[in-house]
Amino acid sequence: MTPEIPEKSPIRLDVDFYRDPHAVYRAIKQRGNKPTEVVLETGMAYLPPNLRAWVVTSYEDVEFVLRDPRFRKSIDKAMPLFAASAQGGGQAQDRSSLLYDNMANNDPPIHTDLRKPLNSSFTARAVAPKRQAMRELAESVLDAVAGHESFDLVQDFAFPYSIGVICDTLGVPREDRETFHQWVQTITSDAEPEVLRSDAQRMVGYLRGLVAQRRETGTDDILTQLAVSLGESQAVAQAYALLAAGYETSANLIVTGLLVLESEPDLKARVWADRSLVPTAVEEMLRHQSPFNLSLYRYATEAVEVGGVLIPAGSIVFLAFAAANRDDARFEDPDRFTVDTPRREHLAFGGGIHNCIGKHLARLEAEVAFDVLVRRCPELSVRTPPQHMEWKASPTFRGLRSLVVAPGPLRSGPGTAGAGEAA
Ligand code: HEM
Repeated sequence: MTPEIPEKSPIRLDVDFYRDPHAVYRAIKQRGNKPTEVVLETGMAYLPPNLRAWVVTSYEDVEFVLRDPRFRKSIDKAMPLFAASAQGGGQAQDRSSLLYDNMANNDPPIHTDLRKPLNSSFTARAVAPKRQAMRELAESVLDAVAGHESFDLVQDFAFPYSIGVICDTLGVPREDRETFHQWVQTITSDAEPEVLRSDAQRMVGYLRGLVAQRRETGTDDILTQLAVSLGESQAVAQAYALLAAGYETSANLIVTGLLVLESEPDLKARVWADRSLVPTAVEEMLRHQSPFNLSLYRYATEAVEVGGVLIPAGSIVFLAFAAANRDDARFEDPDRFTVDTPRREHLAFGGGIHNCIGKHLARLEAEVAFDVLVRRCPELSVRTPPQHMEWKASPTFRGLRSLVVAPGPLRSGPGTAGAGEAA
């Protein structure tokens, strides 16, 4: 249902928004789809609770802000702006941690220095050879639930698989994945400040250890690349950015992707009958489900007119990628999920200089996951009823806490060649 909101009051983004962001986006659309003032109820990490900010929803406006240098990222300069924009004087849960001083939160020249050494490791060509290892990982994660009548797609498949992929990519030991997964979950949640701070400190300590080790005995992994090309604290912050941004979004894409297919039984049957449709389906899942719902912060360095609205200097701005990806001024019939035409011009991976560095890895990862699920679970079906689905309390990461599925009889692996491969 579209909530009715008085024209002038800021929209509160709360638990209803996490459950159904598109209800809020429809309300904004009814007001003319212009930049809109909001209050983000949930605080997390460096963002205080009840933060007053602007949300940009139309495709055209989102693209404009992504490329306009008057909207900046600088974690040092933004901290006082967060504090000034917090209604009721709320404090950020963790203002001191060096984890957030990474490429995702800074503009050039810092951003260039941090991102440039990594770009070549994340091109489509660089990640393509990972396909076979990803397939083996997905097969082995699925083997662990073989024989179960049902399992949790989030905790038993999507997270272990996507964490495994990012561990292997960075060179983080897989046996540590449970531990740092718990820390990342706390750091990206609305946990109590003491809990959040202590898990952030543990994460820093853990990453420091890995970086120090790679300085002693490097290998050809990305952690070594970070350890040798950056100072210690920069290497730690980059490793955190890659870990934190690099698995939850991918896991959420797999889960919400299955969910949207489940709501379209004919399309699901087509994908299950023809695995060559998987890459197009994944592209459409990215657009339709947008696992990165609201962007990270930006702030206006001066008053800027966007879509006919003047956003004052010093305002905090979030880009609603999920809304832009359903903008009917850009996509025909945008709420419809289709596997017939890839709509690759979506903004699920952002754009401009901060476009997702992991986009080729993420696409490949999701394609392999679905290819394995389709081939090995011909009768896979969702069991959690919609009224029992619990969404993560995050304005950024849109994902379910759990989704029970029944796999049906599992076909044995390893399989034949899959989507995008020569048969
Ligand atoms: C389906 C999976 C993914 C989605 C939907 C996604 C989405 C995004 C989006 C929208 C941004 C831009 C945020 C902004 O401008 O505020 C971004 C940035 C970023 N992503 Fe991803 N991402 C995914 C997977 C990954 C993976 C696998 C990695 C790690 C290899 C990764 C690492 C990053 C990093 C480090 C940034 C910051 C880049 C910069 O600021 O220059 N992401 N991602």
